[in-house]
Amino acid sequence: MRQRHIRNRDQIIAECGQCLIEDPAAFKGRWSEAFGRDAPIMLEIGSGKGRFITQMAEKYPERNFIACEGGFNVYPRILQKVTELGLPNVRVIGGYINDPQEYFSEGEISGIYLNFSDPWKERTKHRRLTSRQKLAGYRKICAPGAFLQFKTDNDELFEYSLEELAAAGLTAARVERDLHDSNLAAGNVMTEYEEKFTNGGLKIKYFCTYFT
Ligand SMILES: C[S@@+](CC[C@H](N)C(=O)[O-])C[C@H]1O[C@@H](n2cnc3c(N)ncnc32)[C@H](O)[C@@H]1O
Repeated sequence: MRQRHIRNRDQIIAECGQCLIEDPAAFKGRWSEAFGRDAPIMLEIGSGKGRFITQMAEKYPERNFIACEGGFNVYPRILQKVTELGLPNVRVIGGYINDPQEYFSEGEISGIYLNFSDPWKERTKHRRLTSRQKLAGYRKICAPGAFLQFKTDNDELFEYSLEELAAAGLTAARVERDLHDSNLAAGNVMTEYEEKFTNGGLKIKYFCTYFT
C-alpha cells in the first residue's frame, strides 16, 4: 500500500492508541487478556487502513479481531477507525509480522485473513504471505478447524497460492475465481483494495482452507 505521510501521526496514536498493542510478544499465549475476555481470535495480516477488520468486528461482536499492519503511516488509520466506531473487540499490531509464532502460541488463532497481500511480484516470491513456509507457520498458531481466507485480484499470485496450499498439505475447501459473482458475494465484506480493483473491472479471486 502506498504510504502517504500523515502529519498528525503522533496525535492520532496519542488519542486513538488504546487498542494498539506495543509489545505483541508479551501477549503470546494470553491474548484473551489483551481483550479482557475469552473469545475466538481472528487475525488479519496486512490490514491496510482497516476497513475490512472494523466491519468484520461490527458484524461479529462475539469474536475478537487482531489487525496486523506494518505500514508506519498506515496502521494509525486503523486506530482511528476502531476509536471512531468504539469497537471493543479489535486490537492492532503496528508492525510487520514475520514469524507468527513470535506472537501467538499453538492453537491460539481461530481464523486468518489475508486480503490483497503483498508482496506479489515474482522477484519477491520468497516473501509472499502464502508461501508454503508461511502456511506451515500459520498452521502452528491455528486451532484445529481454524480457517485461512485469501482474496486477491492477482491471477499469478492466486494460482501460486493454490499450489503452495497443496504443497503444505492443505486442501482448498472453496475456490472462487470471481468472488462477486458467486453465492459468497452477499456475505462478503469488501476491503479498500477490493473496492478499487472491482471498480477497475478486475475479478476478485478467493479461497478458503481449514487447518486440522
Ligand atoms: C496491498 S495492501 C492491502 C491492504 C488491505 N488488506 C486491503 O485489502 O485493502 C497490503 C498491506 O499489507 C501490509 N503487509 C504486507 N506484509 C505484511 C506483514 N508481514 N505484516 C503486516 N503487514 C503486512 C502492507 O503494509 C500493506 O499495507
